[in-house]
Amino acid sequence: MNQVIDNHGRPINYLRLAVTDRCNLRCFYCMPEEGIKYVPKPHLLTWEEMERVIRILVRMGVDKVRITGGEPFVRRGIMEFLEELSQIEGLQQINITTNGVLTAPLVPDLKRIGIKSVNLSLDSLDRQRFFDITRRDEFPNVWQTFEALQAHNISTKINTVVMSGKNTDDIIPMAELTRHSPVSVRFIEEMPFNGDGAHEYQEFWNYRRILDELKKAYPGIYKLPDPPASTSYNYQIPGHQGTIGIIAAFSRTFCGTCNRLRLTPQGQFRTCLYDDGVFNIRDLIRQGLNDETLQTYIYEALQNRAKDGFEAEARRKVGVVSESMSTIGG
Ligand code: GTP
Ligand code: 5AD
Ligand code: SF4
Repeated sequence: MNQVIDNHGRPINYLRLAVTDRCNLRCFYCMPEEGIKYVPKPHLLTWEEMERVIRILVRMGVDKVRITGGEPFVRRGIMEFLEELSQIEGLQQINITTNGVLTAPLVPDLKRIGIKSVNLSLDSLDRQRFFDITRRDEFPNVWQTFEALQAHNISTKINTVVMSGKNTDDIIPMAELTRHSPVSVRFIEEMPFNGDGAHEYQEFWNYRRILDELKKAYPGIYKLPDPPASTSYNYQIPGHQGTIGIIAAFSRTFCGTCNRLRLTPQGQFRTCLYDDGVFNIRDLIRQGLNDETLQTYIYEALQNRAKDGFEAEARRKVGVVSESMSTIGG
């Protein structure tokens, strides 16, 4: 296996694959109340097409895939797809980001398939606040997913987008989850991908402010070393089993050590969260190109990757993006 390196010397070993843009929640920072215009089904990559792309990428050195969306578990056939992926030699980690609405009953099967890590999006522990943010009354189901993941010893990260006027009162209760559970609770700065559901910021809660809030409640909170290419700055509260992360998704750029590629549900191949898709791999597959040629397209795209600081520049240019996070996969 040859590890593919991009034009700035960054090894690329991580694919974020959004398997659908559909979702059963309507988080207000991600899409407007009426939802987004979904990609018509025939335009979606099929499971077979996705598997083919992954096999090519694994030959190029990708060893970690994150299955995301939309909500991955709303697409029929996802469990069989995961089972297929688990057979691919060289693919060491298959991780999933889910909102947990449908996931609890599937956890034993995820365990059996060999899924070791799940990121659960959960913005509030209060049922009413959860409803206000997601516009759906699904908190009890999501909580069951959390409990099922713990019971099955699947490593769990909770993703909490911090929004002023919405869930800042949840920061400490969320941090308390780490007291008795070995989870990682990650607070995320809101990013401007909200599917045109533009809203005014009252005040922006950045990384610093979140950390200050934690320090007030837990003066002993201390920094942990961050794994390479980590999206979060990591901390621990003395005596707690779990850890805390803060993802400065807006105030900082991740470019310097970025090891990620993205594939959108309709086959756009992205070398950055902020690019418009370098090419559409679905179209190339459906034109009948062979694996070798597809690999060349991917390789070329990786030799033209934006350099350090691209995110910041892109953000300045685009302001609020009308694209929803669920069409990119986060
Ligand atoms: P692991 O490190 O494998 O746990 O995954 P992750 O943190 O990359 O995945 P997850 O799907 O849980 O995403 C967490 C948050 O990080 C989401 O809000 C993503 O949009 C954000 N994120 C991931 N990659 C990037 C990036 O390149 N730039 C920015 N600004 N945010 C990112
Ligand atoms: N800003 C920050 N994070 C977001 N996510 C979705 N939309 C946004 C946004 N506008 C997060 C979700 C999920 C992860 C993949 O991305 O909460 O956990
Ligand atoms: Fe669905 Fe995730 Fe978007 Fe919420 S943030 S609407 S759970 S895709």
